[in-house]
Amino acid sequence: MRRLGLNEIREEYLEFFESKGHLRLKSYPLIPNNDKSLLLINAGMAPLKDYFTGVKKMSKNRATSSQKCIRTADIDNVGKTQRHGTFFEMLGNFSFGDYFKREAITWAWEFLTEKLEMDKNLLSVTVYEEDDEAYDIWRNEVGLSAEKIQRLGKEDNFWELEVGPCGPCSEIMYDRGEKYTNPDDRFMEIWNLVFTQFNKMEDGRYEKLQNPNIDTGMGLERTNCILQGKTSVYLTEVFTPIIEKIEELSGYKYGTDGEKDKSV
Ligand code: ALA
Repeated sequence: MRRLGLNEIREEYLEFFESKGHLRLKSYPLIPNNDKSLLLINAGMAPLKDYFTGVKKMSKNRATSSQKCIRTADIDNVGKTQRHGTFFEMLGNFSFGDYFKREAITWAWEFLTEKLEMDKNLLSVTVYEEDDEAYDIWRNEVGLSAEKIQRLGKEDNFWELEVGPCGPCSEIMYDRGEKYTNPDDRFMEIWNLVFTQFNKMEDGRYEKLQNPNIDTGMGLERTNCILQGKTSVYLTEVFTPIIEKIEELSGYKYGTDGEKDKSV
């Protein structure tokens, strides 16, 4: 595995998807523009909803970005788990009615195993229980063994916001080893591939999109944490200077008291 820094991972990701014909986008601001359903941008796809529904068009029908995100729904997990942040960047590649599952899956695999040189044996995936197509691509084209592919229900493998483009998804996990007793810390989710097939309406109905899309989200800080072999995202290079400053101001040494660590 390559021990890349955060800026290097971001650049390699964007370059990789540019080499696959994607338009590189800048991160949109955290405050949504013209979207009353969201307080803050919480995913790479959130500022792109109109492109997924076809209301707006870009110069290309595939794009890539590293989007600043705040997930209010995750705030209660910050400090408790090793992988949730108040603020993070989501790497993403998007298809607006262009490529679909096969490319999304095989490119994700190529990026992880060939670019980042992650050990194939430490990667496993989940798919939506009814999604035989995604299962078959992982099993027969990527060549994962059956025990590395788990089928899960709507709760885990269907991605949606309050309203807007949504669909079944497939998550990729990295096994950090038995020393992590909490399964979610051990099998750290790094990338979510969403096969956006529906548009969820305000009344809760799912309308089939004319063209299926791809929306993926890879955690930049989590990937950094794995490549650098750190136990938690807070111990990676972007957080260390912030934590040191808090230590200096508070006189508290991070890592000595679990409850106080949460406050830090
Ligand atoms: N939009 C998807 C997510 O946030 C990729 O997980």
